[in-house]
Amino acid sequence: MKKLVSLCLALALMAALCGCAADKPQTSDAATRDEVVEVDFDADDYYARLERCVQQIREKTDFVPDVALVLGSGLGDYADSVKIVAEIPYSDIQGFPVSTVAGHDGTLIFCEIEGKKVVVMNGRVHYYEGYDIHDVVLPLRVTHLLGAKTVVLTNAVGAINADYSVGDFVLNVDYISSFVPSPLVGENIDKLGDRFVDMSDAFDEELNGIVEKVAGENNIPIHRGVMVQTTGPQYESPTEIKMFRSLGADTVGMSTVVETIAARHMGMRVCSVSCVTNMAAGMQEKISHEEVQSSSNDAAKRFAVLVSGLLKNMV
Ligand code: HPA
Repeated sequence: MKKLVSLCLALALMAALCGCAADKPQTSDAATRDEVVEVDFDADDYYARLERCVQQIREKTDFVPDVALVLGSGLGDYADSVKIVAEIPYSDIQGFPVSTVAGHDGTLIFCEIEGKKVVVMNGRVHYYEGYDIHDVVLPLRVTHLLGAKTVVLTNAVGAINADYSVGDFVLNVDYISSFVPSPLVGENIDKLGDRFVDMSDAFDEELNGIVEKVAGENNIPIHRGVMVQTTGPQYESPTEIKMFRSLGADTVGMSTVVETIAARHMGMRVCSVSCVTNMAAGMQEKISHEEVQSSSNDAAKRFAVLVSGLLKNMV
């Protein structure tokens, strides 16, 4: 009897170990389990898709960027002021997700800014548009395969911290990703990064210091804050904002955090600057997309100063 118990234990242990080591998610035969575990992500297929995107871009330009710059809503005009080497609409790259939101143009711009070779993602796709979370970070992953080792992420946020004002900038020094799916779920893409990624210092302190210095020299109000990402597209309820505040969030937005995670997975340096376009729900009358866009447009000039200053001074 003792032997039988030991054998059962050994078999159970082996089964558990095999489960941990397996490349792909395993599902039991039980119907209930099958219904719950539904992972539709194949790392090899996804990587092949990335390579096809890179190949199509390479047919149009041999530009190798050092930096990827992701422009958020209303900030697209920045791209008009740079020295463009090549420009490719997302829709010309088969397999690339195309944004459906007004204010998110959707072009990949290869350019030089302040002596740095930059690929600008002018417009991004969001989870709320219905894209799989892996698709949301696909453009960023492509920029890394093209050569970018640093990413500068920009976005619009609502301020949860009552000390912030509309038009202020926030340097993200930490984040809360717990309310959106991780872009790293599913089989790991070993060619891009490790299975388990440390997020203790997701944002690059050297780059943060440069942004703060540039902001100080130009009298641009900037805070250090923690951003929480939601799926959107609805803005939050006042009670959700209270909850986020109690969790330690200073701002809330519908992008950027998942891109930060994918970038860190690939070992990229990340600098993330948000523009406060409105006070969060319950802290002002009502929130509208038009207000978010118009506040972003108002902040565009100061935003350009920050990004150009960062690019100029970074090594
Ligand atoms: N909530 C979420 N995302 C946002 C907001 C907001 O208040 N403002 C700009 N993006």
